[in-house]
Amino acid sequence: MSLFNKAFQDYIERFTEKEPKLLAALTRMTYTKAHRPQMLSGHFQGRVLATFSQMIKPNRILEIGTYTGYSAICLAEGLKEGGILYTIDINEELEEMAQLYFAKAGIKDKVNYCIGNALEIIPQLDEIFDLVFIDADKKRYGAYYDLVLEKLRPDGFIIVDNVLWRGEVFTESEGKVSKIAQTIRNFNKKVHEDPRVENVLFPIRDGLMVVRKK
Ligand SMILES: C[S@@+](CC[C@H](N)C(=O)[O-])C[C@H]1O[C@@H](n2cnc3c(N)ncnc32)[C@H](O)[C@@H]1O
Repeated sequence: MSLFNKAFQDYIERFTEKEPKLLAALTRMTYTKAHRPQMLSGHFQGRVLATFSQMIKPNRILEIGTYTGYSAICLAEGLKEGGILYTIDINEELEEMAQLYFAKAGIKDKVNYCIGNALEIIPQLDEIFDLVFIDADKKRYGAYYDLVLEKLRPDGFIIVDNVLWRGEVFTESEGKVSKIAQTIRNFNKKVHEDPRVENVLFPIRDGLMVVRKK
């Protein structure tokens, strides 16, 4: 299900930079070989992530939720010379496809690919990040946010995916809302009330929360 009608989606994609051929091939491969391919960021959101990264020009990026590597490749487009993108995924079965496409994209040397539970890996990373993308299991969003905020430089950005949860966060009444939508509601409130940050919720695909550390 999408928050936007098809004509609207087609129009914004038509007047957005084309999807690079390599990413279109990765999308096809993901739809053929991986479970739940709709998890992939896709053309429009991918170009948005690439654009944010190009605006920030990060030296260190952290991504939570690699999946088949689509968003990592987009985020890496803005990396500064010598920069590194850390990306974490708990599912080791995805490694082959992600690594193949990191190699094809020519970013293998810039990617530090970590397999395991992000909650355990993040505290071990001895880095200060300029940009973080949170796109893994929703019930841990609050925990990821707390961990990464400590490792984010002032004026650094966190982008969080799926914060509109197909609209359920604002359409359903308190008693009817699913557990996951309620978790996301709580997360959005937590971020919005956090005095350490400023935030904007962008109605992009399933909702992107963009957070700047003061
Ligand atoms: C929505 S997909 C990521 C999509 C990807 N960012 C993209 O746009 O192409 C979520 C991923 O988070 C991973 N994941 C779930 N729980 C995790 C955890 N505790 N630590 C690390 N990765 C996790 C899943 O294995 C899955 O591949």
